[in-house]
Amino acid sequence: ELLLGVMGDPIAQSKSPLMHGVALQALGIPGAYVPLHVTPDKLGDAIQAIRTLGFRGVNVTIPHKVAVMEYLDRLDESAVAVGAVNTIVNDEGRLTGYNTDGIGYVRSLKAEAISELSGARILVIGAGGAARGIIAALLRENPASILIANRTRDKAQELAEQCRDKGRVSGISLDEMPGKTEDVDVLINTTSVGMYPHMEASPLDPLLLHERMVVSDLIYNPLHTRLLLEAQERGCTIHGGLGMFVYQGAYALEYWTGRPAPVELMRQTILDSLS
Ligand code: ATR
Repeated sequence: ELLLGVMGDPIAQSKSPLMHGVALQALGIPGAYVPLHVTPDKLGDAIQAIRTLGFRGVNVTIPHKVAVMEYLDRLDESAVAVGAVNTIVNDEGRLTGYNTDGIGYVRSLKAEAISELSGARILVIGAGGAARGIIAALLRENPASILIANRTRDKAQELAEQCRDKGRVSGISLDEMPGKTEDVDVLINTTSVGMYPHMEASPLDPLLLHERMVVSDLIYNPLHTRLLLEAQERGCTIHGGLGMFVYQGAYALEYWTGRPAPVELMRQTILDSLS
Protein backbone atom coordinates (compact mmCIF):
# COMPACT_ATOMS: atom_id res chain seq x y z
CA GLU A 1 0.00 0.00 0.00
CA LEU A 2 1.45 3.33 -1.11
CA LEU A 3 0.92 5.96 1.59
CA LEU A 4 0.99 9.59 0.48
CA GLY A 5 -0.36 12.87 1.82
CA VAL A 6 -0.16 16.63 2.03
CA MET A 7 0.82 18.63 5.13
CA GLY A 8 -0.49 22.14 5.62
CA ASP A 9 -2.26 24.51 7.97
CA PRO A 10 -5.07 24.92 6.98
CA ILE A 11 -5.47 21.83 4.79
CA ALA A 12 -9.21 21.23 4.27
CA GLN A 13 -9.28 23.40 1.12
CA SER A 14 -6.50 21.46 -0.61
CA LYS A 15 -7.41 19.87 -3.93
CA SER A 16 -4.36 17.58 -3.82
CA PRO A 17 -6.05 14.60 -2.12
CA LEU A 18 -8.77 14.58 -4.75
CA MET A 19 -6.32 14.93 -7.65
CA HIS A 20 -3.86 12.30 -6.41
CA GLY A 21 -6.57 9.91 -5.27
CA VAL A 22 -8.01 9.78 -8.78
CA ALA A 23 -4.53 9.44 -10.27
CA LEU A 24 -3.58 6.49 -8.01
CA GLN A 25 -6.79 4.73 -8.93
CA ALA A 26 -6.21 5.29 -12.65
CA LEU A 27 -2.68 3.87 -12.34
CA GLY A 28 -4.05 0.85 -10.47
CA ILE A 29 -1.79 1.54 -7.50
CA PRO A 30 -3.29 0.46 -4.16
CA GLY A 31 -2.83 3.15 -1.54
CA ALA A 32 -4.07 6.50 -0.31
CA TYR A 33 -3.23 10.20 -0.44
CA VAL A 34 -4.52 11.90 2.70
CA PRO A 35 -4.85 15.50 3.97
CA LEU A 36 -2.66 16.00 7.07
CA HIS A 37 -3.43 19.00 9.24
CA VAL A 38 -0.06 19.92 10.75
CA THR A 39 0.42 23.09 12.80
CA PRO A 40 3.87 24.75 12.76
CA ASP A 41 4.74 23.58 16.30
CA LYS A 42 4.16 19.94 15.25
CA LEU A 43 6.04 19.99 11.95
CA GLY A 44 9.14 18.18 13.23
CA ASP A 45 7.05 15.41 14.80
CA ALA A 46 4.96 15.10 11.65
CA ILE A 47 8.05 14.68 9.48
CA GLN A 48 9.41 12.02 11.85
CA ALA A 49 6.02 10.28 11.56
CA ILE A 50 6.52 9.90 7.80
CA ARG A 51 9.44 7.61 8.59
CA THR A 52 7.63 5.83 11.42
CA LEU A 53 4.47 5.20 9.46
CA GLY A 54 6.26 4.36 6.23
CA PHE A 55 4.76 7.06 4.03
CA ARG A 56 6.37 6.95 0.57
CA GLY A 57 6.09 10.72 0.41
CA VAL A 58 4.18 13.89 1.10
CA ASN A 59 3.51 17.26 -0.41
CA VAL A 60 4.15 20.24 1.82
CA THR A 61 2.11 23.38 1.53
CA ILE A 62 1.56 26.72 3.27
CA PRO A 63 2.99 27.58 5.81
CA HIS A 64 5.63 24.79 5.92
CA LYS A 65 7.51 25.00 2.62
CA VAL A 66 10.57 26.76 4.06
CA ALA A 67 10.50 25.51 7.67
CA VAL A 68 10.38 21.85 6.64
CA MET A 69 13.84 21.95 5.07
CA GLU A 70 15.74 21.56 8.35
CA TYR A 71 14.05 18.20 9.08
CA LEU A 72 15.09 16.49 5.84
CA ASP A 73 18.15 14.36 5.13
CA ARG A 74 18.85 15.73 1.70
CA LEU A 75 17.71 18.61 -0.50
CA ASP A 76 17.45 18.22 -4.24
CA GLU A 77 18.96 21.02 -6.29
CA SER A 78 15.42 22.18 -7.22
CA ALA A 79 14.72 22.87 -3.54
CA VAL A 80 18.07 24.55 -2.94
CA ALA A 81 17.54 26.89 -5.90
CA VAL A 82 14.15 28.01 -4.62
CA GLY A 83 14.85 27.79 -0.89
CA ALA A 84 11.61 25.87 -0.34
CA VAL A 85 10.28 22.30 -0.51
CA ASN A 86 6.87 21.18 -1.75
CA THR A 87 7.56 17.45 -2.22
CA ILE A 88 9.27 14.92 0.05
CA VAL A 89 10.33 11.46 -1.10
CA ASN A 90 10.98 8.78 1.53
CA ASP A 91 13.56 6.19 0.48
CA GLU A 92 13.53 3.71 3.35
CA GLY A 93 13.68 6.39 6.01
CA ARG A 94 15.91 8.78 4.11
CA LEU A 95 13.93 11.92 3.24
CA THR A 96 14.73 14.05 0.20
CA GLY A 97 13.11 17.46 -0.40
CA TYR A 98 12.24 18.60 -3.90
CA ASN A 99 10.53 21.65 -5.32
CA THR A 100 8.24 20.81 -8.23
CA ASP A 101 6.33 24.13 -8.28
CA GLY A 102 8.76 25.92 -10.58
CA ILE A 103 9.37 23.03 -12.98
CA GLY A 104 5.65 22.24 -12.90
CA TYR A 105 4.89 25.81 -13.91
CA VAL A 106 7.40 25.80 -16.76
CA ARG A 107 6.16 22.42 -18.06
CA SER A 108 2.63 23.82 -18.09
CA LEU A 109 3.63 27.10 -19.75
CA LYS A 110 5.49 25.27 -22.50
CA ALA A 111 2.74 22.70 -23.05
CA GLU A 112 -0.09 25.22 -23.10
CA ALA A 113 1.18 28.62 -24.27
CA ILE A 114 4.74 28.97 -25.61
CA SER A 115 6.83 26.00 -26.69
CA GLU A 116 10.18 27.83 -26.67
CA LEU A 117 11.34 30.08 -23.84
CA SER A 118 14.94 30.36 -24.95
CA GLY A 119 15.58 34.01 -25.86
CA ALA A 120 12.25 35.17 -24.41
CA ARG A 121 11.97 38.49 -22.59
CA ILE A 122 9.98 37.78 -19.45
CA LEU A 123 8.25 40.16 -17.05
CA VAL A 124 7.38 38.73 -13.63
CA ILE A 125 4.94 40.65 -11.43
CA GLY A 126 5.59 40.04 -7.73
CA ALA A 127 8.69 39.09 -5.78
CA GLY A 128 7.45 36.66 -3.11
CA GLY A 129 7.89 32.93 -2.67
CA ALA A 130 5.90 32.05 -5.77
CA ALA A 131 8.00 34.38 -7.93
CA ARG A 132 11.24 32.96 -6.54
CA GLY A 133 10.13 29.42 -7.41
CA ILE A 134 9.19 30.07 -10.99
CA ILE A 135 12.15 32.37 -11.73
CA ALA A 136 14.61 29.65 -10.71
CA ALA A 137 12.93 27.26 -13.16
CA LEU A 138 12.56 29.86 -15.92
CA LEU A 139 16.29 30.65 -15.78
CA ARG A 140 17.04 27.03 -16.72
CA GLU A 141 15.22 27.70 -20.04
CA ASN A 142 17.77 30.32 -21.04
CA PRO A 143 15.51 33.37 -21.49
CA ALA A 144 17.01 36.63 -22.85
CA SER A 145 16.01 38.50 -19.70
CA ILE A 146 13.74 38.50 -16.68
CA LEU A 147 12.41 41.76 -15.28
CA ILE A 148 10.77 41.60 -11.85
CA ALA A 149 8.19 44.29 -11.08
CA ASN A 150 6.95 44.45 -7.51
CA ARG A 151 4.87 46.79 -5.35
CA THR A 152 7.85 47.02 -3.00
CA ARG A 153 10.83 47.89 -5.18
CA ASP A 154 13.48 46.69 -2.73
CA LYS A 155 12.12 43.15 -2.75
CA ALA A 156 12.23 43.03 -6.56
CA GLN A 157 15.83 44.20 -6.58
CA GLU A 158 16.84 41.84 -3.79
CA LEU A 159 15.37 38.82 -5.62
CA ALA A 160 17.00 39.94 -8.88
CA GLU A 161 20.33 40.26 -7.11
CA GLN A 162 20.09 36.69 -5.79
CA CYS A 163 19.45 35.35 -9.31
CA ARG A 164 22.03 37.41 -11.12
CA ASP A 165 24.64 34.67 -11.48
CA LYS A 166 22.13 32.54 -13.42
CA GLY A 167 20.95 35.06 -16.01
CA ARG A 168 19.98 38.65 -16.85
CA VAL A 169 17.58 39.52 -14.06
CA SER A 170 16.63 42.99 -12.85
CA GLY A 171 14.05 44.49 -10.50
CA ILE A 172 11.80 47.56 -10.60
CA SER A 173 8.71 48.81 -8.82
CA LEU A 174 5.22 48.36 -10.29
CA ASP A 175 5.00 52.15 -10.68
CA GLU A 176 7.97 52.09 -13.04
CA MET A 177 6.28 49.64 -15.43
CA PRO A 178 4.87 52.05 -18.04
CA GLY A 179 7.24 52.01 -21.01
CA LYS A 180 8.79 48.72 -19.92
CA THR A 181 6.29 46.29 -21.45
CA GLU A 182 6.79 47.06 -25.17
CA ASP A 183 9.38 44.33 -25.67
CA VAL A 184 7.94 41.78 -23.27
CA ASP A 185 7.20 38.34 -24.76
CA VAL A 186 5.83 36.69 -21.63
CA LEU A 187 4.17 38.45 -18.69
CA ILE A 188 3.54 36.41 -15.53
CA ASN A 189 1.49 37.40 -12.50
CA THR A 190 2.76 35.70 -9.33
CA THR A 191 0.86 37.88 -6.85
CA SER A 192 -2.46 36.95 -5.31
CA VAL A 193 -4.11 40.02 -6.84
CA GLY A 194 -7.29 38.85 -8.62
CA MET A 195 -7.66 35.65 -6.62
CA TYR A 196 -11.09 34.53 -5.39
CA PRO A 197 -12.98 36.30 -3.80
CA HIS A 198 -11.31 39.55 -4.97
CA MET A 199 -11.94 38.86 -8.63
CA GLU A 200 -12.38 42.48 -9.68
CA ALA A 201 -8.72 43.25 -8.95
CA SER A 202 -5.88 43.16 -11.47
CA PRO A 203 -2.16 43.67 -10.83
CA LEU A 204 -1.68 45.95 -13.83
CA ASP A 205 -3.20 48.48 -16.18
CA PRO A 206 -4.51 46.66 -19.30
CA LEU A 207 -3.03 49.44 -21.46
CA LEU A 208 0.36 47.84 -20.75
CA LEU A 209 -0.70 44.66 -22.57
CA HIS A 210 -0.03 44.13 -26.27
CA GLU A 211 -1.20 41.38 -28.59
CA ARG A 212 2.20 39.74 -29.13
CA MET A 213 2.41 38.89 -25.43
CA VAL A 214 1.78 35.62 -23.70
CA VAL A 215 0.03 36.56 -20.45
CA SER A 216 0.18 34.00 -17.66
CA ASP A 217 -1.38 34.03 -14.19
CA LEU A 218 -0.44 31.60 -11.41
CA ILE A 219 -3.94 31.93 -9.97
CA TYR A 220 -6.36 29.12 -10.90
CA ASN A 221 -9.37 30.21 -8.88
CA PRO A 222 -10.93 31.83 -10.85
CA LEU A 223 -9.64 29.96 -13.91
CA HIS A 224 -9.64 33.25 -15.80
CA THR A 225 -8.63 36.22 -13.69
CA ARG A 226 -9.47 39.75 -14.67
CA LEU A 227 -5.90 40.09 -15.96
CA LEU A 228 -6.38 37.11 -18.28
CA LEU A 229 -9.78 38.32 -19.50
CA GLU A 230 -8.36 41.74 -20.31
CA ALA A 231 -5.37 40.13 -22.01
CA GLN A 232 -7.65 37.93 -24.08
CA GLU A 233 -9.63 41.02 -25.17
CA ARG A 234 -6.41 42.60 -26.35
CA GLY A 235 -5.54 39.52 -28.42
CA CYS A 236 -2.83 38.06 -26.17
CA THR A 237 -2.25 34.33 -25.74
CA ILE A 238 -3.38 33.54 -22.20
CA HIS A 239 -2.29 30.88 -19.71
CA GLY A 240 -3.94 30.21 -16.34
CA GLY A 241 -2.54 28.64 -13.17
CA LEU A 242 -4.38 25.33 -13.24
CA GLY A 243 -1.64 23.66 -15.27
CA MET A 244 0.99 24.62 -12.69
CA PHE A 245 -1.01 22.93 -9.95
CA VAL A 246 -1.56 19.83 -12.09
CA TYR A 247 2.08 19.50 -13.18
CA GLN A 248 3.63 20.16 -9.75
CA GLY A 249 1.49 17.23 -8.59
CA ALA A 250 2.37 15.19 -11.67
CA TYR A 251 6.11 15.54 -10.99
CA ALA A 252 5.60 14.58 -7.34
CA LEU A 253 3.57 11.51 -8.26
CA GLU A 254 6.22 10.52 -10.81
CA TYR A 255 8.96 10.78 -8.16
CA TRP A 256 6.95 8.62 -5.74
CA THR A 257 5.79 5.95 -8.16
CA GLY A 258 8.28 6.03 -11.04
CA ARG A 259 5.30 6.00 -13.40
CA PRO A 260 4.03 8.72 -15.80
CA ALA A 261 1.21 10.68 -14.15
CA PRO A 262 -2.24 10.72 -15.84
CA VAL A 263 -2.01 14.47 -16.38
CA GLU A 264 -5.19 15.02 -18.39
CA LEU A 265 -7.29 13.05 -15.92
CA MET A 266 -5.80 15.06 -13.05
CA ARG A 267 -6.59 18.33 -14.84
CA GLN A 268 -10.16 17.26 -15.61
CA THR A 269 -10.72 16.18 -12.01
CA ILE A 270 -9.81 19.63 -10.73
CA LEU A 271 -11.84 21.36 -13.43
CA ASP A 272 -14.90 19.32 -12.50
CA SER A 273 -14.43 20.13 -8.81
CA LEU A 274 -14.29 23.88 -9.51
CA SER A 275 -17.56 24.05 -11.45
P1 ATR B 1 3.71 34.10 -2.38
O1 ATR B 1 4.48 33.01 -1.71
O2 ATR B 1 2.32 33.68 -2.83
O3 ATR B 1 4.47 34.72 -3.50
P2 ATR B 1 4.34 36.31 -0.65
O4 ATR B 1 5.71 35.78 -0.48
O5 ATR B 1 3.62 36.86 0.52
O6 ATR B 1 3.39 35.18 -1.25
O7 ATR B 1 4.38 37.42 -1.82
C1 ATR B 1 3.25 38.08 -2.25
C2 ATR B 1 3.59 38.95 -3.46
O8 ATR B 1 2.40 39.56 -3.94
C3 ATR B 1 4.55 40.07 -3.15
O9 ATR B 1 5.34 40.32 -4.30
C4 ATR B 1 3.60 41.23 -2.85
O10 ATR B 1 4.15 42.50 -3.03
P3 ATR B 1 5.03 43.19 -1.84
O11 ATR B 1 6.38 42.56 -1.88
O12 ATR B 1 5.06 44.63 -2.17
O13 ATR B 1 4.30 42.90 -0.56
C5 ATR B 1 2.54 40.98 -3.87
N1 ATR B 1 1.26 41.59 -3.53
C6 ATR B 1 0.39 41.18 -2.59
N2 ATR B 1 -0.69 41.99 -2.55
C7 ATR B 1 -0.50 42.93 -3.51
C8 ATR B 1 -1.27 44.04 -4.00
N3 ATR B 1 -2.47 44.34 -3.48
N4 ATR B 1 -0.77 44.77 -5.02
C9 ATR B 1 0.44 44.45 -5.55
N5 ATR B 1 1.20 43.43 -5.14
C10 ATR B 1 0.75 42.67 -4.14
